[in-house]
Amino acid sequence: MVAVHDAPVSFDKVRGAACPVMCFIRPGEAGACDRYFDVEGAAVRFDSHVVLERRVERLPSRSGIVDRLIATAFDNGAAAALAIHQRDARPPSVCRAKPNCVVVISPRHFAANSPLNYGIQMSSFNQERVLSVRHWTDNLFSFTTTRTPTFRFRNGEFVMMGLDVGGKPLLRAYSVASANYEDHLEFFSIKVPEGPLTSRLQHLNVGDEVVVGTKATGTLVIDNLRAGRNLFLVGTGTGLAPFLSIIKDPETYEKFEKIVLLHGCRRISELAYGEYLTHDLPKDEVLGEIASTQLVYYPTVTRDPFRNRGRITDLMTSGKLFEDIRLDPIDAANDRAMICGSPDLMRDAKAMLLDRGFEEGNHGEAGDFVVEKAFAER
Ligand code: A2P
Repeated sequence: MVAVHDAPVSFDKVRGAACPVMCFIRPGEAGACDRYFDVEGAAVRFDSHVVLERRVERLPSRSGIVDRLIATAFDNGAAAALAIHQRDARPPSVCRAKPNCVVVISPRHFAANSPLNYGIQMSSFNQERVLSVRHWTDNLFSFTTTRTPTFRFRNGEFVMMGLDVGGKPLLRAYSVASANYEDHLEFFSIKVPEGPLTSRLQHLNVGDEVVVGTKATGTLVIDNLRAGRNLFLVGTGTGLAPFLSIIKDPETYEKFEKIVLLHGCRRISELAYGEYLTHDLPKDEVLGEIASTQLVYYPTVTRDPFRNRGRITDLMTSGKLFEDIRLDPIDAANDRAMICGSPDLMRDAKAMLLDRGFEEGNHGEAGDFVVEKAFAER
C-alpha cells in the first residue's frame, strides 16, 4: 500500500487531494465518483478501480482532533486516507482536510482516463444486468444492477433507465438510489399496470438486462445548496430515492449538522427502506457512527394508524414535526431543504418554504432549497 500522508512524489507519480468518498468503496469492489481527485486545485477524474484493502484504525488522538483513519488501497496503485474528526463536543464528522486526504497515482493511468478521453469513448447507453429485485408492495419495487465503471453521477442525480423493447430503448428518468462510490446501481420504482415501462419493468428477474443512460443530471445535489445548519430532505413515495443516495454521502454529514429525512406515504407498507434506515445504516462499519448522531429519519403516513401521522407539509406548518424530533422549526437563515415527490407535494412544500423566506437554488446558483419531481408513470 502506498504511504498516505507522506506518499513519495516522484517523476512517475501525480499527487492530489482525494475526496473522502473513495474510502467508502468496499474491499473487492470497484468504484469511482465525480469529485474525488484534485490536482493543483483542478478537479480531475480517473478510471474506476478495485479496492484491495481498507483499514479502519483508531489513532492515538492527536490533541483530541483526529479520531479514526480509514486507509484504502486501490488496484491502480492509488491510496486514499480519510480522517474522522472528533471536534470538541460536536458530533464526529467526515474530514476533507487536504493534508489528510492524499492520493498518489501514476500519470499514465490518469492521462489515459482524462475527461477528454472519456468524451470520445462514451456512448449514450450502458447495458446493465439485474443483481437483485425487491417487491415492497403491489405498487412499489426496487432493484439493483451492475454499474459500468465509467458511469459517473453525483449523489441525488437521476438518469434515463429502462428496457430495450424490440431494439428501441424505452426509458424513464429514475433517481439513482445508490451512492456514487458503490459498485452497483439501485433504483426504486412504482408499478403502473398500464404504464408502458413499469408494467414490464416490474417483472424483472435477476440476470435480466436494463438500459441505463450514460449521463446523470438533476438539481438535488448538495452543491446546489448554500451552507447551513440542518438539512431537511422532504420525500413522498418513490421521492425517497435520491435521498437514499444523499444520506450515504459523507459530504452531506460534513456540510450539515443534522440531516432530517422525511418520508411521507399513504400506507405503512409503503415506507420502503425503513428497516435499512432504522437498523442497518446505524450499524454500518463506516457510516454508522455519523449517521447515528446526525441522521434523523422521520417516516409518516396519512391513511393508516401509525406513530407519525399526517402530511409532511402539515406536520411542519403545525410545528408537530419539530416537537417530535426536538429541533428548532425550519428557518431560512439556518436550514436548507430538498423536495422530491408528486407535483402536488412539490407545489405545496415549495410554497411553504418561499413563505418562510427560503430562496430556490438550481445548477447555476446555490439556494436555500431545491426541488425535483419524483419521476413516475401516471
Ligand atoms: P394524502 O394521503 O393525504 O394524499 P401519493 O401516493 O399521492 O404521491 O402521496 C404520497 C404521500 O404524500 C401521501 O401520504 C399523501 O397524502 C402525501 N401528499 C400528497 N399530496 C401532498 C401535498 N400536496 N403535500 C404534502 N403531502 C402530500
